Amino acid sequence: MVKRDVYTHGHQPAAVNQHAKRTADVCAQFVRPFISPQSEILDVGCGPASITVGLAEWAVEGSVIGIDVGDEILQTAQGALDDSGLSNISLEQASVYELPYRDNSFDVTYAHQVLQHLADPVLAIQEMARVTKVGGHVAVRDADYYTMSCSPESKMIDEWRRIYHLVARHNGAEPDAGRHLLTWFHRAGLHQVECSATAGVYATKEERENWGLSWADRCLTTSFPSQAIDYGYATWEELEAISDGWREWAANPDGYFQFINGEAIAAVL
Ligand SMILES: C[S@@+](CC[C@H](N)C(=O)[O-])C[C@H]1O[C@@H](n2cnc3c(N)ncnc32)[C@H](O)[C@@H]1O
Repeated sequence: MVKRDVYTHGHQPAAVNQHAKRTADVCAQFVRPFISPQSEILDVGCGPASITVGLAEWAVEGSVIGIDVGDEILQTAQGALDDSGLSNISLEQASVYELPYRDNSFDVTYAHQVLQHLADPVLAIQEMARVTKVGGHVAVRDADYYTMSCSPESKMIDEWRRIYHLVARHNGAEPDAGRHLLTWFHRAGLHQVECSATAGVYATKEERENWGLSWADRCLTTSFPSQAIDYGYATWEELEAISDGWREWAANPDGYFQFINGEAIAAVL
């Protein structure tokens, strides 16, 4: 039986629409030197596939397969593929714990903001390495929620971060994943690992609205608030106050938010 984790964010529009703004240029830049026009790439946990499309533009004579456990999100992803006009991408429903591919299939196996949601990230990396060709690379990028901080300081956003940690850990996942990637790669048997980090910054009106208004909605309309209430970590009234806190921050021209994304890329030997 394939492991099935509880996905903290949920695939409701407030979360998916924010994820769909991501690009390969920003989120997979550390992988770019390892991708050639002929690369065969697997994008694990592709979500709405905005990054998948960018990877396919880089591997224009190769191919990209995006996989995800969610079926509805794959319909959203299919829309992104259709809009892209690219013919070198396909999608499949699958779990990272049991990838439906032979050993040695891909030049690059990539997962963006996925390991932070898994109860067994080491098993996931092992399975990603299995389907990667000898000489190919496994690449992962994940946020570290502990580093999420803002100005002006906001008690409500601090409270959001506290509750998010509790909910994600209740789900058996590690929200500070970014700092643990090297350890997880080593435990998965990958020892030739290059680590880097890039900061997420939201400081313009558009960026504040992308992040702040998304979280204002996500605190009320996604799986996150349902889980927070079901697990006993927050009441609806507290979540409404946190949502208001996000709106207040997003409306402030001084509003600034930052966090670290950990990145790790390993050669498969
Ligand atoms: C935060 S989203 C990231 C989506 C995309 N990679 C991006 O960065 O825009 C995490 C995705 O991982 C998927 N996911 C969660 N557990 C998974 C698993 N065991 N196997 C494959 N995908 C999984 C979720 O369904 C979700 O779409």
